[in-house]
Amino acid sequence: MNNSVMLLAQGLAKSFYQNATEVPVLKGVNLQLAVGEQVAVVGRSGSGKSSLLHLLAGLDSADSGSVHIDGVDLLAADSNGRARIRREKMGFVYQQHHLLGEFSAQENVAIPQRLLGIDELSARQAAQDMLALVGLEERLSHLPSALSGGERQRVAVARALINKPQVVLADEPTGSLDRASAELLMDLLSNLSRAQGTSFVVVTHDVSMLQRFDRVESLDDGILQPLSSLAE
Ligand SMILES: Nc1ncnc2c1ncn2[C@@H]1O[C@H](COP(=O)(O)OP(=O)(O)OP(=O)(O)O)[C@@H](O)[C@H]1O
Ligand SMILES: [Mg+2]
Repeated sequence: MNNSVMLLAQGLAKSFYQNATEVPVLKGVNLQLAVGEQVAVVGRSGSGKSSLLHLLAGLDSADSGSVHIDGVDLLAADSNGRARIRREKMGFVYQQHHLLGEFSAQENVAIPQRLLGIDELSARQAAQDMLALVGLEERLSHLPSALSGGERQRVAVARALINKPQVVLADEPTGSLDRASAELLMDLLSNLSRAQGTSFVVVTHDVSMLQRFDRVESLDDGILQPLSSLAE
């Protein structure tokens, strides 16, 4: 495989079953992401964008198809193997942020560092620095329940970025942010991409963000294809 390919998804298919009725969501999705490439994924609500990101991160299993991360077959690995690849190479921002409610913002962001074996003091310092980058230096000890929706989203992004992952998968990371905060957060992702060669896939409904990306892909009827025109 070409070394410059960071993420390669081939023929991803996934159906869900509702009362024994098959609901096909992904029908053979192909996606190739080069090192440092920034791709946006758009598509109507329910088109399968979150489902696709979950498959790309190995958080759910596909019915068929494959995902390679930096040349490693993600879906062929067992759950421990997948967790290790995620820990070492990937950052994931859930649509519903999934912060741990009993931990402070700083502790939530420090968790991925602790999982890598980094000592507590260093992890806490790194988390503080990361939270400062997303404008939350005044919210370190807040529990998620004491943060606004946009603040929670920024904590989730800080958590996804703290280990300097090679690939970031983010599900509507700017969904609850005002324009200025959204721009700031996207700048952060772009700078990271430039400085560290991070690749990322961002699901977004925000049309004004699309020109920032190297490529825009649209998910429609289970198939991912390049969005033909941004002009209309
Ligand atoms: N666990 C599940 N069981 C059954 N159906 C599911 C499950 N997860 C998702 N679906 C269905 O799959 C389809 C795609 O869902 P998904 O969350 O991927 O959409 P989405 O494109 O992310 O939408 P949105 O823009 O609203 O976030 C939906 O119709 C949803 O009902
Ligand atoms: Mg979604």
